[in-house]
Amino acid sequence: MKEDLLLIPGPTNLSSRVRRLMASPQPPHSGHAFQAAFKDLISLSRYVFRNEKSHQFVFTGTGTIGMESSVVSLVSRGDKTLTLSTGYFGHRMHHINQIHGAKADIVDYTNGSHADPDDLRKRLRTTRYKAVFMTHVDTSTSVCNPVRELLEECSNAGVFSIVDGVCSIGGVPFDFDRFAPDIAFTASQKAIAAPPGAVLIATSQKVLDYMTSRKSPIESYYMSLLNWKPVMDNARTYLATPATQVLLALREALLAVKEETLEKRWTRHRQLGELTRSKVASWGSKFVANDDCRADTLTSFWVDQGSAEGIQKKLEEDHGIIIARGLAEARDSMLRIGHFGILSPRRLSGALQSIGEVVGRLGLGRK
Ligand SMILES: Cc1ncc(COP(=O)(O)O)c(C=O)c1O
Repeated sequence: MKEDLLLIPGPTNLSSRVRRLMASPQPPHSGHAFQAAFKDLISLSRYVFRNEKSHQFVFTGTGTIGMESSVVSLVSRGDKTLTLSTGYFGHRMHHINQIHGAKADIVDYTNGSHADPDDLRKRLRTTRYKAVFMTHVDTSTSVCNPVRELLEECSNAGVFSIVDGVCSIGGVPFDFDRFAPDIAFTASQKAIAAPPGAVLIATSQKVLDYMTSRKSPIESYYMSLLNWKPVMDNARTYLATPATQVLLALREALLAVKEETLEKRWTRHRQLGELTRSKVASWGSKFVANDDCRADTLTSFWVDQGSAEGIQKKLEEDHGIIIARGLAEARDSMLRIGHFGILSPRRLSGALQSIGEVVGRLGLGRK
């Protein structure tokens, strides 16, 4: 199979040490070696979330399981919830709230701006919400929210706060202990640079207390964080068969994060973000996110209507570079470059040169 450079917003490129584990002989999930590795995996996950004090979960699933687990574990039918949406994934979170019977409100910030903490404070003064959901980096728009400030408003109002960190954690500064959300989650295939197939979730003690004292039962078996808690405490506990190779590969990827150190990884991602933004600006393309909230993990920009597919195809065929198109209605007019994981500024720089040439030829979107 030919090897392309993945510059999509996840899954990201895998290092050879991570790939090796995907090809390892099948370990028994009940064996001592896997259980020791799982313990290690939880401890390394804590490092990446900066979660020393509270509960950490890792299990087979994807980012969407993180979204839905947060909702089913905290929200009962008829509860009022608020989602601050800065793109496609905010809308998905709102929709999941609706599916599970929440009286779900949404504030739609989808014009490229970030969620506004002052506006949130006012809303929390006038309406009693059970929980507020926010996306740290929305992968459709590349908008990066000021989660720390937003979480402070939630904490002042005493509401549960949930951060979708799928496109941020491990790539941009996030500190579970200091920012103090009630739930934050990510998925294995993004900034951590492991294969898809695992969800990583941190929760506060308040969430655990709430789940154990809920009047109405959690309406899910697999996505109940309460059901997963005993497995996290002792990997010998059986709930569902884990994707063993994926979890071992994730452990290796997390180890690599720790070896690099989180601080250096954040700095490298800032360089990747700055490099991409300076190139996109030099082509004259218009960014989707406003300039005060552009993420360091991916960059979304407009191209001429109808040209996105041709640009994507040309880059793959002629240069072995894979970038992503916009989601939903932006599919034909938006491109997204993922610049996270194990990518180096040098590798990205060469690729951006090719992307700039193709975009310039086939559909520069000076909107
Ligand atoms: C911000 C965000 N949230 C949630 C998801 C859903 O994750 P998954 O596709 O792993 O289910 C994604 C996927 O790209 C995402 O970018």
